[in-house]
Amino acid sequence: MVHEPLRQPDELKRYYRNEDVVQTYLKRRTAQPLNGLLHRRQIALLNEIVEEYRPRRVLELACGPARLTAEVRGVPFGVAVDASMPMLHVARGRTGAAPWEFLRTDAFRLPFKDHVFDLVFSTRFVRHFELRDRSRLYAEIRRVLAPAGLFVVDALNFETSYPARVERGLERYQIYDVLYRPGEAEEELTAAGFRIVRCAGLLRWFPLQRRINRLRFRAPRLARWLIGGLERLPGRWPQTWMLVCEKSEQVAGDHGIHDPPKRTLRASGG
Ligand SMILES: C[S@@+](CC[C@H](N)C(=O)[O-])C[C@H]1O[C@@H](n2cnc3c(N)ncnc32)[C@H](O)[C@@H]1O
Repeated sequence: MVHEPLRQPDELKRYYRNEDVVQTYLKRRTAQPLNGLLHRRQIALLNEIVEEYRPRRVLELACGPARLTAEVRGVPFGVAVDASMPMLHVARGRTGAAPWEFLRTDAFRLPFKDHVFDLVFSTRFVRHFELRDRSRLYAEIRRVLAPAGLFVVDALNFETSYPARVERGLERYQIYDVLYRPGEAEEELTAAGFRIVRCAGLLRWFPLQRRINRLRFRAPRLARWLIGGLERLPGRWPQTWMLVCEKSEQVAGDHGIHDPPKRTLRASGG
């Protein structure tokens, strides 16, 4: 039987309301040396951005259990939204009170006025949808962003992620992910009305780091040390890019924005 990953907005919402998924999420995303490094690098990048741009109002879309929210410092006022009540319950417990307010809402229909946020960020969310739905999200993000406001989003590298997924078994990935060749994510965001300010590659030696990650059962410290050490060297094989974009005045419209070919249409572990 052909395995079809979840990719419809309603399917995704349903999946993340499941208590088992919610309770295991943070561990799955942070416990291994490789995932842990990605997690820490995303936190470091967000903190750098907040320090450099000093946004007054920040919105996180699809915050989940506040994996990143709880670690971002220096935000005067933040709203983190998610469609899953169980996820928000964990998020509130991890974050305490101010500056974050948590709100259950649909990211496709945000209950905010136009132009109110200086920074919007979202990870492991936009990439789970096909272009038609990603475009709806981009439009909603542009609507709530102030002029020249920033949008930070992750994108997966086809060239490193796809071979790794094939090796692991595509059927193990329950949720769709768009995978981009170098430059494709930038093109998509530019066409959607954003100007790319920065593109940071994370897990920069992914093929090698992934292999070292297998040592984690026998020699976890060594695995962590080697994977972290490699990340400090310039590498050209990132698993993920974090794209920092500025809202531009213009949207290119539908021309110039195409879903990457079907080769990418397989799946992730959420
Ligand atoms: C893979 S988790 C990502 C969590 C977090 N951003 C991270 O990077 O760890 C995806 C999240 O998207 C949320 N979600 C799914 N569909 C949504 C929607 N339409 N609006 C808001 N949140 C949604 C899910 O409830 C889930 O918490």
